[in-house]
Amino acid sequence: MILRRFPPMGVYETLFRFAEVTSKYMGDAGTHPWAQGFPLTSQIPGGPPLPDSVSITAEDRMYPKADGQMPLRQAIADYYRRVHNANITYENVAVFAGGRPGIFAILSFLLEDWSVAVEETEYTPYYDILKLLRRPHQLIPSNRGNRFRPGLSDHPEGDRVFMVRSNPLNPTGVTIHGDELQQMVDHYSQDHRGALFDEAYEWFTTGAPVSALAHIKDIEATNLFVCGAATKGLQVPGMRVGWVVSAKRHVEAFRNYSSFGMGGVSRASQLYVTELLESERATQAQAAIASYYTSQRDRYGEGLKKLGLELFSGDGGFYHWLRLPDGLSGDAFNERLMKHNAAVMPGRLCDMARRGDHGAIGDMIRFSFGPLKAESYEGDMEILAACLK
Ligand SMILES: Cc1ncc(COP(=O)(O)O)c(C=O)c1O
Repeated sequence: MILRRFPPMGVYETLFRFAEVTSKYMGDAGTHPWAQGFPLTSQIPGGPPLPDSVSITAEDRMYPKADGQMPLRQAIADYYRRVHNANITYENVAVFAGGRPGIFAILSFLLEDWSVAVEETEYTPYYDILKLLRRPHQLIPSNRGNRFRPGLSDHPEGDRVFMVRSNPLNPTGVTIHGDELQQMVDHYSQDHRGALFDEAYEWFTTGAPVSALAHIKDIEATNLFVCGAATKGLQVPGMRVGWVVSAKRHVEAFRNYSSFGMGGVSRASQLYVTELLESERATQAQAAIASYYTSQRDRYGEGLKKLGLELFSGDGGFYHWLRLPDGLSGDAFNERLMKHNAAVMPGRLCDMARRGDHGAIGDMIRFSFGPLKAESYEGDMEILAACLK
């Protein structure tokens, strides 16, 4: 053995099992991809069309800049200034090949004497990244006992604490906003503290989008990192464009890393995403995402409740976070669903303590309505009802 071995991120277990049982890839026509974390990649009601092409010049065939092309960095900074009144410039933005590479870079450069704090129920890859990087971490209690809604008083005390949180949170949808977000930003802006706010689902909220950047007075004086991506709100997971907004000294570290470790991000993808961020288009797209996904969240929430599932979901993201009845485990439920070419994500994959199918959240599931068109609702409910009998 020459390479360190590690499994793919948790959801792949479900995808592989699905392929084994159904002989299909989840997401193919005729499947019900409720385990998947991708949005619709076609035009949604009230949303702008998605361009079919991007034109490339000889210059665009050259190497990209290590920290991202200027027009894209500018478009990202303009977006946060316009929508969140953020006090930043393009110099606070570093472009990455998707959301996860930005998160991975931050955690891999975090100095050894900082300790990571993460909620007990969180986005699956945080576990894999922390494990691969051999980073011990402290868990912030987030379970049925507090309805997956910990407060700042549950966070670890002391110096050199670096918090990682998705907001809206994947899988629960619980979104910190307003005064609570302000307090969290203030707390982690203090000396010897830092935080990563992962805002991949920024546009998937009921009402106006929420960002920590609206609450950061002087980002240069902080160790705060706000991550975004074109993956969900802009509906282009395949473009592989994400970004980190932080103090300039941190952007410099990312630029240096990119110069030897990443080589920048595809210029074609950056051109495409820059076009998607044009201000009028982005305003229309954000409003359409909020409206379409809020109505889907409400509708599926009602339907799932009627089927006897207990709902713990917040008001963000495109997932429902549910407890199965009668001690049924997520994996056992999936075996039933797969007979109908459907699957959800078993809750155990979001357990940052990985206690398994019979652990504290073994009877929880994440139901994704991200890739669903409005017309699939009735058929979806029929399958779910049949599998809960
Ligand atoms: C919480 C969260 N952060 C970040 C991402 C980033 O995704 P990507 O690396 O595909 O851009 C995702 C996608 O599932 C996510 O759920």
